[in-house]
Amino acid sequence: MEASNMNMPQYPESYWLNEKGNGFGQLTEDTQTDIVIVGGGITGITAAYLLVKEGFKVILLETGKVMDGTTGHTTAKVTAQHGLIYDELITNLGIEKARLYYEAQDDAIKFIQNLAKNNHCDISQEDSFIYATTDEYSEKLTNEYDAYQKLGITGSLVDGIPFDIPTTGVLSMNNQAQFHPVKYLNGLLKDFTNQGGTVYENTTAIDVEEGTEPVVITKKGQRITCKYVISASHFPFIDMRGFYFARLLPERSYVLGMKVSKEYPGGMYYSADDPKRSLRYTPYNGEKLILVSGEGHKTGKGIDTLKHYKALEDFAANVLGISEYPYRWSAQDLTTLDKVPYIGPITSNQNNIFVATGFRKWGMTNGTTAALLLKDLILEKSNPYQQLFSPSRFNPTPSIKNFISYNTDVAGQLIKGKLEYVPMHPEDLKNDEGAVVKVNGKRRGAYRDKDGQLHIVDTTCTHLGCETAWNHGDRTWDCPCHGSRFSYNGKVLEGPAEKPLKKIEEQ
Ligand code: FES
Repeated sequence: MEASNMNMPQYPESYWLNEKGNGFGQLTEDTQTDIVIVGGGITGITAAYLLVKEGFKVILLETGKVMDGTTGHTTAKVTAQHGLIYDELITNLGIEKARLYYEAQDDAIKFIQNLAKNNHCDISQEDSFIYATTDEYSEKLTNEYDAYQKLGITGSLVDGIPFDIPTTGVLSMNNQAQFHPVKYLNGLLKDFTNQGGTVYENTTAIDVEEGTEPVVITKKGQRITCKYVISASHFPFIDMRGFYFARLLPERSYVLGMKVSKEYPGGMYYSADDPKRSLRYTPYNGEKLILVSGEGHKTGKGIDTLKHYKALEDFAANVLGISEYPYRWSAQDLTTLDKVPYIGPITSNQNNIFVATGFRKWGMTNGTTAALLLKDLILEKSNPYQQLFSPSRFNPTPSIKNFISYNTDVAGQLIKGKLEYVPMHPEDLKNDEGAVVKVNGKRRGAYRDKDGQLHIVDTTCTHLGCETAWNHGDRTWDCPCHGSRFSYNGKVLEGPAEKPLKKIEEQ
């Protein structure tokens, strides 16, 4: 494969987040409402939109800016083709549950397509394709096709994909969609606030007091008394003995937004084999911006994350030819032990505190599914997907194996980071460089910004004490244990950690 000579954008920036919405104020005092939703991504906003329409008073809280998390960094494919999943679900959970999983996604696609009609959100109907490049994955594709047949999914094995990529098998799923997630959700937010819903940005919820009238407590100490709480904050902002930190696996992946020299034929593509490659386009100033994504790895274990961007860039240069490269960004995804999201009461003995998390890379449909299901749970209406997604389910195979190896890995990380030999000192760093360094004999994280100023933090994650690693692609400190991420000066960007990394003044 030829290497690209194109200049990578210096800093990460998501194309979607160029679309500005209304800003919202901070919560400044104690208050009361029917429902508090924590997390302003697709799940939280869709649930807020649905619940205010049912006549509830709803407050939506977001720790930063709405849609600034995973929703603003997605590839925004609206599809039920979630990689190779249906054959695995049939094997592990049985045909009925596999069918329900598909139907939930299909309902979500129809829901989005219906709302998108009035939303000017660049939605288009597209076929989706998974392609294999090895014999091993060709066989898996055939098994996946058999699963489609059993589940009644419309799709077929086709001859190839319209790119210069030699394939050993291609499986299509017809009539899927893609859209601009921020335009779509700005439309829902507008309807939500027009109907009396309230949004507070820069307001971090940190705890909930349980009870018939639960109280959400913010970092600044405000209290919101309510009847129901929904945690839609990607990683749940509370755990309540649900042990989510031990049953969610964080993974980072990368997205490039580029103009290409070859004609892009439409359609959405995803590789079955590793390393993962994904393609789609979006309208861009009368032309097409191609989103090239993949290179997923466990958070905090990417070593030099710029290498992941570079690998995608080389792939794009080879397959499509790059004429302009204005955007690059990364996203964090959470996977559950059986690959089915956790949506429902946070623990089996709660009936007014709900959670939605673990959508893998497929948050557009899974997040919408979550909002639709949570609305029914609050209305006490039966919903066919309630059991499938219940966070209290326990499917011993193969999750128990993953659970043990994952927690062994966390235990290993706890020790490994502390024992690691640290050869660098802050004075070794060039401008715009970060690394684990030694300061007065202690392990520290240092970043020298582009003006030459040093920012030093304690690298110990404030969640449960693992050691964070420098992610140069995004200029962040990432934790390998449960995926918390911090800015170069320690601010929490992504939980479960709630407290910033400690800033270190001595140098
Ligand atoms: Fe749990 Fe860092 S996220 S220890």
